[in-house]
Amino acid sequence: MKKRFIPEALTLTIYNRDATAYGVSFMTDSDVASFVQFADEGDTGFKNAKSARVSTRDYEGKTHVTAVMEGLAAGKNYLWRVGCGSDCSEKFKMKTVDTDSDSLTFTVYSDSQDRKHFGKWWRGAWQDAKERFPDAALCLHGGDVVENGKTHDLWVRALKYNKGLFTSMPMLPVTGNHDHMTAAGDVTHRYFNISPPADKKEPLLYYSVDVGPVHFTMLSSGDYGYTERQGLNAEQIEWAKRDIASSDKKWKVVMIHTPFYSPGKYGSHPENAGQPTALRRQLNEAFAKLGVDMVFTGHDHVFSETYPITADGRAEHTSPYVIKKINGEYYRLAVSPKGPIHIESGCTGNQNRAIECGAGLDEVSAGYFKDIVETPRGCVGYIGVRISGGVLTADYVLKRVSDGEDVIVRRFGIKK
Ligand SMILES: [Fe+2]
Ligand SMILES: [Fe+2]
Repeated sequence: MKKRFIPEALTLTIYNRDATAYGVSFMTDSDVASFVQFADEGDTGFKNAKSARVSTRDYEGKTHVTAVMEGLAAGKNYLWRVGCGSDCSEKFKMKTVDTDSDSLTFTVYSDSQDRKHFGKWWRGAWQDAKERFPDAALCLHGGDVVENGKTHDLWVRALKYNKGLFTSMPMLPVTGNHDHMTAAGDVTHRYFNISPPADKKEPLLYYSVDVGPVHFTMLSSGDYGYTERQGLNAEQIEWAKRDIASSDKKWKVVMIHTPFYSPGKYGSHPENAGQPTALRRQLNEAFAKLGVDMVFTGHDHVFSETYPITADGRAEHTSPYVIKKINGEYYRLAVSPKGPIHIESGCTGNQNRAIECGAGLDEVSAGYFKDIVETPRGCVGYIGVRISGGVLTADYVLKRVSDGEDVIVRRFGIKK
């Protein structure tokens, strides 16, 4: 019997800023011509399928295939598949994002790095999210996808365990320090096919995407080598400012791995706070003045929510909040905040960390936090975000891996 073709490290992303093209990446041992096809949902035989634009190159003894699915319609169901020569993968089903809508649901994962389980814990999180947020159109990943980015096999295992996520919705990743591990810069871009900004010279992965009412600006905290503890370099800072300023979307969301504010070991401990304090100095003013609403971060494997951070770097303690009942649940919403709210996105791997604020290590972070939640041992934590008109609501969900018990532990958001 013929062996089924199994592409390694298969991922799906949004390729371009206006979200009309999707990027595919996978690796194969085959050296014959590769293809990626997509078809209308009803065309199960792929009779009228379209072919994606494919490129190949050698990578660590394998063929790395990247492809761009162009001309996709907004908010539409498609079937897609990949293959090499006469070999073909199974059919996958996806729904494209609705670029014209004024509402959007997405999920946020971070730090799925995992020494023993190779992404299995992360699978628990997104399978949970599939039920809680069935209308999610895409997901974000806050970095540290794997424990050692240089080890290709770790990517293969983590992406294989989570294939169901990657084949059904696009993921927007940012690079964590564990995803660098090489003098050549981020390795994340080797596993996700995303079009870089036209004028980018940096080896780091940064880009932006518009989806419905949201402009996403995805930054690289550049934790390898020269930017370590110095924040971002000038090229990326200037690009980020231009990029955010160029968007007239109602909502502006930023994601970056290293937190500006953290109640964990990297934000709270003065010895580890070089990068956070540099990022505040470099970007707080621009974020507040350019109307950034929410900044999602990772790295410290906890959940935290700051007060709105003003242009001069203060936590705006007098900013009003309201409690609003939405779809039967009560959310605490910041009302027209004067700067972005920074969210540490929890942890979908197995490396839980403690809150260190208040343990004599809080010189840096004291006073910034509206809320803090540890990810308890044995649990993963992720966030579901729903945006509709002028209201953003977010649920922070904890799921115990051993028995699948899950609970929404925080409901928060923004009204403007
Ligand atoms: Fe991490
Ligand atoms: Fe990290």
